[in-house]
Amino acid sequence: MKILVIGSGGREHALVWKLKQSPRVTKIFCAPGNAGIGTLATNVPISVTDLAGLLKFAQDEKIGLTVVGPDDALAAGIVDLFQKNGLRIFGPTRAAARFESSKIFAKEFMQRHGIPTAASGHFSKSEEAHAFCQKMKYPVVIKADGLALGKGVVIAESSDMAAKTIYRIMEQKQFGEAGSNIVIEEFLRGQECSIHALVDGKNYLLFPGAQDHKQVFDGDRGPNTGGMGTFSPAKILTPEIEGRVHREVMQPFLKGLQAEGITFQGLLFPGLMLTSGGPSVLEFNCRFGDPETQVLLPRLKNDLVDLMEATIDGALDRQSIIWDDRATVCVVMASGGYPGDYQKGLPITGLEQFEESDDVIIFHAGTKLDNGKVVTAGGRVLGVTALGADLRTAQARAYEAVARIHFEGCHYRTDIAQKGLVG
Ligand code: AMP
Ligand code: GLY
Repeated sequence: MKILVIGSGGREHALVWKLKQSPRVTKIFCAPGNAGIGTLATNVPISVTDLAGLLKFAQDEKIGLTVVGPDDALAAGIVDLFQKNGLRIFGPTRAAARFESSKIFAKEFMQRHGIPTAASGHFSKSEEAHAFCQKMKYPVVIKADGLALGKGVVIAESSDMAAKTIYRIMEQKQFGEAGSNIVIEEFLRGQECSIHALVDGKNYLLFPGAQDHKQVFDGDRGPNTGGMGTFSPAKILTPEIEGRVHREVMQPFLKGLQAEGITFQGLLFPGLMLTSGGPSVLEFNCRFGDPETQVLLPRLKNDLVDLMEATIDGALDRQSIIWDDRATVCVVMASGGYPGDYQKGLPITGLEQFEESDDVIIFHAGTKLDNGKVVTAGGRVLGVTALGADLRTAQARAYEAVARIHFEGCHYRTDIAQKGLVG
């Protein structure tokens, strides 16, 4: 079977790496891909939102399964278009992807179906948003309703900051139309945990927990990024809390889908805050996490093609997932200046040392080939991922590898997985 993966980040490199292990796969294409993906698959220069271009490519190449990485392709309706043309594609339709593309839709759904989430209000008029903030305790969390490249959430420490944030999002249109409506919600305290589940519309299969590190600096300081590193398993997701995730999040989610006639097939990734009162959903993503995928797929023992096909066919009840007991840690090496402005095109050295390694995998994110050399091409450049018998071993191995890779201005957190070792 020929596979087309859509996207160009570390998540897509991990997907291609895993799909490539399937004996059922004859060839993989990736649109548009990156330098690392290009060593495993054929990169095709079609952008993730060029739906007509992607459809034509899939038809011409007789692609047997298309796998969608990023949220914007889902929100643009790629799954609907492929399905209408009789092509098999993994991911939710545009309507189902609203759980991610509209925070208001997701909030209202959670409220209707009793899924725990922060108390909130939503607004289309800035005066009403300002008035609501007067009654809130600080900090408050202000979120653009639509997709904003992971930057649409602001934690406002004071009423002054809240007022400025509302003005920037709603009046100055910092995130364009994505900020025409906003959600304002209470600030929750606790540790965050990423949950991934394959959902076929009626059944779901839960993955082990993973933890991301969103802030750019050690100790969770500084501005939010797309994610500076991850680890799995997450011992904070105890069997007791996992039981609550099944009962309080996943089961009501599936029941809610059925009650409302929504077909959701694909990967559901609830971002949770584990509060003293239990798990609370911060957001729903409708795609694999980045860099969560980089630590989850190396632990997956099943053939990913089988699991994706069972998801599309509504047959997950006939599958069971098997996980490697080993731990994984992914440290993101980022361009100097990220998440702000950064330079591109800088040569990366040291990568070849890991080509044959069994326990270190270098997932590329923002890289490309320039005259046959790998150079930086984005903010998050590499996801240096290691497996180990336990978390401490995986962490040490990941940082040993990081120390042997170099590009000018590179920065990374030195405390990835530390929160999984304490307590
Ligand atoms: P979201 O895109 O909604 O997950 O928000 C991005 C990040 O903002 C989350 O990963 C949290 O770190 C933080 N965040 C979002 N909502 C809340 C909340 N209600 N309380 C505390 N932190 C939050
Ligand atoms: N790592 C967080 C995300 O993929 O949204």
